[in-house]
Amino acid sequence: MDIRFAIITASDTRSLARDEAGAELARLIEAAGWEVAWHAVVKDDEFAISAAIVRACDDEGADIVITCGGTGLSPRDVTPEATRAVCDRDVPGIAEALRAHSMTKTRRAMLSRAVCMQRGGCLVINFPGSTKAARESWEGCADQLEHAMKMTAGGGH
Ligand code: MTE
Repeated sequence: MDIRFAIITASDTRSLARDEAGAELARLIEAAGWEVAWHAVVKDDEFAISAAIVRACDDEGADIVITCGGTGLSPRDVTPEATRAVCDRDVPGIAEALRAHSMTKTRRAMLSRAVCMQRGGCLVINFPGSTKAARESWEGCADQLEHAMKMTAGGGH
């Protein structure tokens, strides 16, 4: 099954060329046989992140948007709020599974406020921002993404 991904890294300091976590995610997505349709780095700004999610879903044709970073407790961490602002339905099980998987790696996983939601037929998943956390989060959900896309399209089991 073809799945088109967008990667949006939220960071005040990273550029596209220095987005190691985003590059690692792109490598993992392509290794799974899927496509990275769009990759962007935006500031830790709620409007900028929301706008990037809208563009990824509506204009870049992404089936799945992975945001990277900005899920923590600092005042500049606004990715969950930016996601909620432009998505319609909560998909709590994926966020719960990611935190549960991540808790087996580090107890700091409880400090991520990451959410997973749908914007129409587009699935938006928040990952934490370090390269390690991004890789571990991918491990925690990748095996269910194809089925998630089939269900999103109205398919049966
Ligand atoms: N999840 C995994 N799998 N691995 C990690 O190393 N780091 C945690 C947590 N989730 C981590 C993780 C830490 S230290 C923080 S502060 C939060 O994610 C939020 O990270 P973010 O602000 O980069 O989104």
